[in-house]
Amino acid sequence: MFKIRINNIEVDAEAGETILSVSQRAGVSIPTLCHMDGIEHYTSCMVCMVRDKASDSYLPSCTALVREGMDIDASGEDVVSARKKAVELLLSEHRAECEAPCRIVCPAGYDIPRLNRLLAAGEYIKAIELVMSELDAPEIRCLSCRGYCENACRRRKIDRQVSIRNIRIFIYHNLNYQGGPQKPVELTEFPDFKKIFSSRTGRIEEEELKEWLKECREAGKRFESVTDFISAGEEAKNCMHCDCRASDNCRLRELAQELGIRDRGNKVAGLPLTKKISQGTGLIFEHAKCIKCGLCVRICEDKKEEPSLCFINRGFVSLISEPLTAEFDDIPAAQAELCVNVCPTGALSFF
Ligand code: SF4
Ligand code: SF4
Ligand code: SF4
Ligand code: FES
Repeated sequence: MFKIRINNIEVDAEAGETILSVSQRAGVSIPTLCHMDGIEHYTSCMVCMVRDKASDSYLPSCTALVREGMDIDASGEDVVSARKKAVELLLSEHRAECEAPCRIVCPAGYDIPRLNRLLAAGEYIKAIELVMSELDAPEIRCLSCRGYCENACRRRKIDRQVSIRNIRIFIYHNLNYQGGPQKPVELTEFPDFKKIFSSRTGRIEEEELKEWLKECREAGKRFESVTDFISAGEEAKNCMHCDCRASDNCRLRELAQELGIRDRGNKVAGLPLTKKISQGTGLIFEHAKCIKCGLCVRICEDKKEEPSLCFINRGFVSLISEPLTAEFDDIPAAQAELCVNVCPTGALSFF
């Protein structure tokens, strides 16, 4: 046992401990992305950087071990600036959108893609509950709105916009459907996307647009006029889910927000927007959102079920994939769930 200093506080440390674990014990918070307690260290994201003033060196706290005499700065200006650069580097090749165009332009900020997912899956009561939770009663904004969402709908670039406004107006007229809630369950604060970190894709190539069609539930029939839940559900199946399913639960986004980073949209590497979707488990993998933290690979390493995700290729072209001897559809449900839960971004999600 010996003493080190962290943010000018003297703390006990033992040989073999990491700076991160001693800091956590001392109540000093350090952000992480590729680290998870109980899983082998990997050191890839560098957002856990600290500075040892005694040796004048920057160290990744999740991996660097404590040494007697260390004087750690875990939250100074230089350290925060190094973390900011690390997150900016990750975002420089992160091609994905946190929020869909339809939601960004909606003056009320309604969560349109989520509503479409619920309707497409036949979850009508949940769809009503979502609409009610977003109502800033007594005003039903879609009735007087010019339909900015439909103008911005990405589906227009392929054929015709999703009938978002008609779907919502139909639901407003049926709020008592099957004994659903009679009045708003909670009033939400509408998001101001100018103030919230929002990752942007930049230019989307024509063949990439077709890739987005993979997220439509099936080649749904088109309904301009929505008259019942069946037509609402069918029309909703044409939504391409341009948002990120992790938008409320993404450590990368949270960190970018905390560090005041703005996404410039000009991506260095221009990773293609490819998607893999498992027909069995509904697991979706989006390569361009992956920060290669390796958590999904390591969490499955000591599990018996096969196959699981792994790295293929080397260096800049390394990527997460099913093993070369297996299909993406073969990844078992238990592995899929572990991976989705551990992924710090929306690279892995469920359909
Ligand atoms: S992974 Fe995170 S940062 Fe990227 S689009 Fe999804 S929510 Fe936004
Ligand atoms: S395709 Fe769906 S998520 Fe994309 S803009 Fe249109 S309604 Fe929104
Ligand atoms: S898929 Fe998610 S958990 Fe796996 S390496 Fe990429 S970001 Fe990390
Ligand atoms: S959390 Fe330390 S390098 Fe990623």
